[in-house]
Amino acid sequence: MTGPTANLLITGARLIDPATGTDAIGDLAISDGLVVADAPAGAERIDGRGLVVTPGFCDLHAHLRQPGRDGAETIESGCRAAARGGFTTICAMPNTDPAIDSAEAVSRAVAAGAGGACRVRIIGAASVRRAGREMADLAAMAAAGAVAVSDDGCAVSGAMARETFERVAAAGLLLIEHAEDPSLVAGGVMRAGPTAVRLGLPGWPPAAELTTVERDLALAGTTRARLHLTHLSCAASIEAVRGARARGVAVTCDVTPHHLSMADDWVAGSRRFAWDEERAPDPALAFDGRCRVNPPLASRADALALLAAVADGTIDSIATDHAPHPVERKLAPFASAAPGLIGLETALSLGLAAVEAGRLALPALVAAMSTRPAAIIGEARSLAVGATADIVAFDPAARWRVDATTLESASSNTPLLGMELPGVVRLTVGDGRITYRS
Ligand code: NCD
Repeated sequence: MTGPTANLLITGARLIDPATGTDAIGDLAISDGLVVADAPAGAERIDGRGLVVTPGFCDLHAHLRQPGRDGAETIESGCRAAARGGFTTICAMPNTDPAIDSAEAVSRAVAAGAGGACRVRIIGAASVRRAGREMADLAAMAAAGAVAVSDDGCAVSGAMARETFERVAAAGLLLIEHAEDPSLVAGGVMRAGPTAVRLGLPGWPPAAELTTVERDLALAGTTRARLHLTHLSCAASIEAVRGARARGVAVTCDVTPHHLSMADDWVAGSRRFAWDEERAPDPALAFDGRCRVNPPLASRADALALLAAVADGTIDSIATDHAPHPVERKLAPFASAAPGLIGLETALSLGLAAVEAGRLALPALVAAMSTRPAAIIGEARSLAVGATADIVAFDPAARWRVDATTLESASSNTPLLGMELPGVVRLTVGDGRITYRS
């Protein structure tokens, strides 16, 4: 990571540290990149009144598009977007072109990710070219530094699922699974339901996620492989996770900020959050390709159930699934728009909007964005004295307007453009270095 070494004294901030159970007003001193009890002479003083200071955020799911599609994002621009969003670690998915599916490709990606404004961890593909026909060399990718494997964009194919889980268990790896059965999606482009019927768009049924979740939980149970289910979008999937945990299956899971806050009515032109009162959708905003994403935006009931599962801790992490795409791939008719939306710079704000609405406690949001995802990939985070400074300071009450011209990401594919959101990051310190400040 690059940036000046932090020597700071932040005074009078709300310090929230899930690692130590802290939630109190206090000062945080950093000397030579380490959290210390007393600020060094000459340290820069930052008036922290009104700010919240927490461990740096860790994103288990981001697409950086390099190699192959660096018009949409580069590692460098993705890292700048991450630092602006308060992230100090992002895990890069292997669905690049070519895919990151070998030890050599992992080594190259690790080296390419080393010099940016955010720590980049690499996820290797589970199958060669992510094609689901031939196993990638998982143990060699782990030795080269992969923190997990995933065929994200697709689930591990049925034909390879048993062997993949066995090898993941043998290598002591983590499988991050995009749960989607393509035979049940069968051309669906938005969540199946009344809105899809009304808009005349082919529906993507919740069963396409749930059947893969159930398959994977069964395989994790018998093989003891570590399974992490990413971007869960249905209440039924959360129930399946609860049931598996009760049987002793080791499984973790995440949800995206957009699945927590937006529902399928956004495809019809609504721009209300899932917890807001019903408002008539704006027909001029209907069929906006920027609302197309995999898995699709779900029902309002699903979104609220996912939010409740973050609040009660069932969902371990909020992960962005930051999926940059060039404008022309999103301005296409809805059914041919590329799925995916950017999230690194808006994740905190969507979480804070849920906090403002009384749906989530701020410490639970912080844990789901920092210490809990970090622990899943073996990273420690703490504000305790002696820890490496890896923190974010944000103003939860400040407002900003999402504007394509000021985003750090090289892409601007989000339906939040033009909307005003709460939460502005003032300072990000990763690995003892100042990686962002505003
Ligand atoms: C992802 C992308 O663009 O890489 N898109 C998305 O909607 N989540 C891949 C994928 O999971 O389909």
